[in-house]
Amino acid sequence: MDVLRVEDLRKSFRHDMSLRRREVLHGVSFEAIAGEILGFLGPNGAGKTTTIKIILGLLRADSGDVRLFGRPAGERAVRARIGFLPENPYVFPHLSLIEFLEFCGHMTGMRGTVLRARIEEVIWMVGLESSRARLKTYSKGQLQRVGLAQAILHDPELLILDEPFSGLDPLGRIKMRDILVGLRNQGKTIFFSSHILPDVETMCDRTCIIREGLIVRCVGIDDLIRIGESRVEMIVRGCPPECFDTLDDYLESKNSTGDEFFLLVKKQDYVRTVVQVVYNSGGEILKIVNQHPSLEEVFLNEMLSEFKQSRVKTPEEEHTFIGF
Ligand SMILES: Nc1ncnc2c1ncn2[C@@H]1O[C@H](COP(=O)(O)OP(=O)(O)OP(=O)(O)O)[C@@H](O)[C@H]1O
Ligand SMILES: [Mg+2]
Repeated sequence: MDVLRVEDLRKSFRHDMSLRRREVLHGVSFEAIAGEILGFLGPNGAGKTTTIKIILGLLRADSGDVRLFGRPAGERAVRARIGFLPENPYVFPHLSLIEFLEFCGHMTGMRGTVLRARIEEVIWMVGLESSRARLKTYSKGQLQRVGLAQAILHDPELLILDEPFSGLDPLGRIKMRDILVGLRNQGKTIFFSSHILPDVETMCDRTCIIREGLIVRCVGIDDLIRIGESRVEMIVRGCPPECFDTLDDYLESKNSTGDEFFLLVKKQDYVRTVVQVVYNSGGEILKIVNQHPSLEEVFLNEMLSEFKQSRVKTPEEEHTFIGF
């Protein structure tokens, strides 16, 4: 079941100093399936926060639709099932952690011993301590954890996190990853934006890549493996360089270091032919590995592709004036 469905979202903003509008989302569509961790990846200014704000009803889209648990996004009952960590979490600096979480709990209707027990639980989950120190003395990384604690306090089914890894040191990132994977294992759905590709790659079930206000690709772990499985890396030794002359159509590239050749075979189907040529010329095979691209490679490919030139600009992007 789709926990979150975003369909054809468009959003334009007015420039500060003029009446011109610029469209920053050009029809964003994707969905998050129950129980998955879905990463939302894109460079600065791609439209991640804008999309998230629209999903949460903090911004109104020009057009398009958002469904949460199959219901219109604005419904009160639906909002109670969501936890949100904003890009820059706001806390009341003069409150202690417990006071702040008590305030957040009251906002969602939690009270008494249930709330107090849950506060202790989430403080432990995010790796903080129930100190009496005021939040203004917390570091950026600690505040990020406070933000996560308030997001999960009411035990929401869907977590929407805008840059949850920002400001965290490597240990903090591992801790955040473990918490999110733990929540996913409890059946929660997690949708989060990030720039940190290794974190996205190691924990996400799927990743949607957004670029210039459009989703350019949604990849699952299986897709990542499939994208690369056509190419095969081989390291061979002891064959004369001319033995590869007949293999131009089979090899993507060929590099040598001394007696060894590093071959990139275009397709799995071609491996048998290449192996035969190597053996027939007296060589030996040291290594054969299917090549799987990292999410980083997929991401960079998408960012560097010719997509930008092929996309037709909308009137808004051409700086259409709105009437006076
Ligand atoms: N309130 C606003 N008024 C005008 N333009 C805005 C406003 N909010 C966002 N934008 C513009 O919309 C585009 C998308 O911004 P958004 O904050 O969604 O990007 P992002 O993907 O979250 O980037 P980052 O990774 O830096 O957080 C940017 O060009 C930004 O300048
Ligand atoms: Mg952002």
